[in-house]
Formats: sequence, C-alpha cells, structure tokens
Amino acid sequence: MEIPLLTPCKMGNFQLSHRVVLAPLTRQRSYGNVPQPHAILYYSQRTTKGSFLISEATGVSDTAHGYKDTPGIWTTEHVEAWKPIVSAVQAKGGIFFCQLWHTGRVSSKDFQPNGQAPISSTDKPPKPQVSSGGWDVTEFPPPCRLRTNEIPQIVNDFQRAARNAIEAGFDGIEIHGAHGYLIDQFMKDQVNDRTDRYGGSLENRCRFALEIVEAVVNEIGADRVGIRLSPFANYMDSGDSNPSALGLYMAESLNKYGIAYCHMVEPRMKTLGEKVECPESLVPMRKAFKGTFVVAGGYDREDGNKAVDEDRVDLVAYGRMFIANPDLPRRFELNAPLNKYNRETFYTSDPVVGYTDYPFLETTA
Ligand code: FNR
Repeated sequence: MEIPLLTPCKMGNFQLSHRVVLAPLTRQRSYGNVPQPHAILYYSQRTTKGSFLISEATGVSDTAHGYKDTPGIWTTEHVEAWKPIVSAVQAKGGIFFCQLWHTGRVSSKDFQPNGQAPISSTDKPPKPQVSSGGWDVTEFPPPCRLRTNEIPQIVNDFQRAARNAIEAGFDGIEIHGAHGYLIDQFMKDQVNDRTDRYGGSLENRCRFALEIVEAVVNEIGADRVGIRLSPFANYMDSGDSNPSALGLYMAESLNKYGIAYCHMVEPRMKTLGEKVECPESLVPMRKAFKGTFVVAGGYDREDGNKAVDEDRVDLVAYGRMFIANPDLPRRFELNAPLNKYNRETFYTSDPVVGYTDYPFLETTA
C-alpha cells in the first residue's frame, strides 16, 4: 500500500523523493557561533537521497543571537565552516536549506556586541520565560526599538546572509519568521506597538517580513527561498489578536514573490508543548498559497500520511522525532517502532550524546 509521506514531490525546481522534512532544530553545539565538524555526521545521518532538510536557526549578524553556541552565517569563517556540512548532505543526495534567524528582543546583553541592548520592533521586553522543565526562568532586558531608518540595515543583513548561504553551498534559505523572534515581533500586534509604516495595520506589520522576502529573492532567486511562520503561536510572548487573518494575509502576499515554499507551524503547537485538539486550522492558508506548503508541529506518521492524503499539506517537517530517529523516513516506511527523544540532551554542548548517538534500525540486508 502506498505511504503518502513517502511519495515524491516537486518543490519549485527541486525534485524531492519523499515528504518527510527535517525541521529546523537549534542544538547549541556550534561553539562560539561557528558550525562544528560534528554537525557533518548529525545532518548526514538524517539525509536520504532526495530528502529535504532545513538547518538549525542560524544568525544573520552579530546582533542576531540570543542563545549560546547557535551558528552564524555572517562571516567568512562561518561560511567556510558550513561548507563541509552542506557538501556531506548533498553527497548523500539531500536538498539543504539554511534557516536565517534574528532573535530580536529574545536576547540579552551577554549575546550582544559591546553589551548593548538587543533590537526589536518595540522597547518592551518579553515576559520572563519559564523553561520547559519548569525550574528555570529567563528574564529579558528592555530592547532598543529600531528606528525606521535602521530597518533597511537589518533587511540587508538577511540579504547578505542569504548570499553567504549560497556561497556555503546551501540549496536555499528559509527565513525564520516564527516563534516570537525579530520578524514575528513585527508581525504580531501584541508585540508591535509602532506608529511608523512598520506598525499598526496588518499590511504595515507584515512590511518588514515582506521586505526581507523581496531582498533575498532578488539576491538568490525565488526558487531558493522559503519562509517559516507561526501566526497562532504565542511563544516568547508573541500573541496576535487575529492570527487567522495574519496567516492568510501572509500566505496571499507571498504569492507575489513566487517563493518555493511557505512553512507554517500548526496552531495546536501554541507553545512547544504536547499535541492538543484545536479548532483553528492552516487549511485557508494552504489554499491561498500557490507554492509548496510545509507544516510542522506535533505530527506523527499517521497524522502526516492523512494530511498528505487529504491534500492539506505538501510536506511535513518533523522535529523531535527526527532528533531521536535519524532514519525516520525508513521507520515510517516499515512502520517500525521509534526511539524516544530525550529532552535533557536537546541543548547540551555534547558533540555526540543526544546528537549523533541515537540508534538506527538494524538492517536486515
Ligand atoms: C525547535 N524548533 C525550532 N523551530 C525553528 O523554526 N527553528 C529552530 O531552530 C528550532 N529549534 C528547535 C529546537 C528543538 C530542540 C526543538 C524541540 C524545536 C521547533 C521545531 O522546528 C518544530 O516546529 C517543533 O519541534 C514541532 O515539531 P515536532 O517536534 O512536534 O515534530
């Protein structure tokens, strides 16, 4: 019987052999923001011929980081360090996009050049965040609101990062417009309190995101560009009063640029918690967007197959399951049992444990 997730799919100029995508996953093992050789094994373990992978979120500039040891792509050293990782993935036939990230106000002076305040659309910090384990609270300093005339520089940073990603050999880039980071801080009306042309109406709040889309499309071509959005999520204190309208406006507006894909996070993932039933849906955005539609958030084999079969999605990105199961497409093919993920090792700096030591299925060949 055909397994919908394992059928081929054309995404722009890319021919994918199946629909099980590696979701972007921060692992905090890029010491000093430089991608490390251990990422070669990590990514290539998760590559199959014709598979689509999205890299962990990668900083576009020296103001873009908010977490220790997340990779960058703004210096020659970063570009050179990415090259062997990208070529290992491509040697196995993978198609690899780099997720471009700016954390905005989800940062602190420790991560900023000269200890300055992080930038944002606003000068309000996010509410203190309790860690998923519940024992740790992170507080954020008040950010520095970007002046209108400073915004083009940030757009340029994304454009340069896109150019660098292509220089590093990536097949394309994904703009990280989700989860309460800088781009989302502009889109969401519970964060953005601006009165210039980047605040107020939906059109104004989405202007920054769409300027970035336009800039990277001009730089590297629409076929190499995707964007990730989470209109329904309020992660990092980033709620919106009308997330359906926001998601739909973005899906429709993106058509103008002809980008390869739109990647949306399911509303049931209001936070990175467990799956809950939810009356809201991405179907209107799927219908509005003309390119490849990628979804993520709480999918298992059965949900993913059903969503593809019912034509609600083209591709499904898997996060936690792919961390714990480097051979996830093969396990889906065989309906084999899955390794359980260990949350404790998601973000440690260990180059092996919880990173490249999850077991593969034993082969019978
Ligand atoms: C994430 N997620 C995430 N999202 C993103 O856009 N960029 C990123 O770098 C990260 N980093 C990250 C790290 C870890 C350890 C987790 C668990 C999650 C969110 C991720 O891509 C995905 O949307 C969620 O994990 C939900 O999908 P699953 O895990 O239910 O398949």
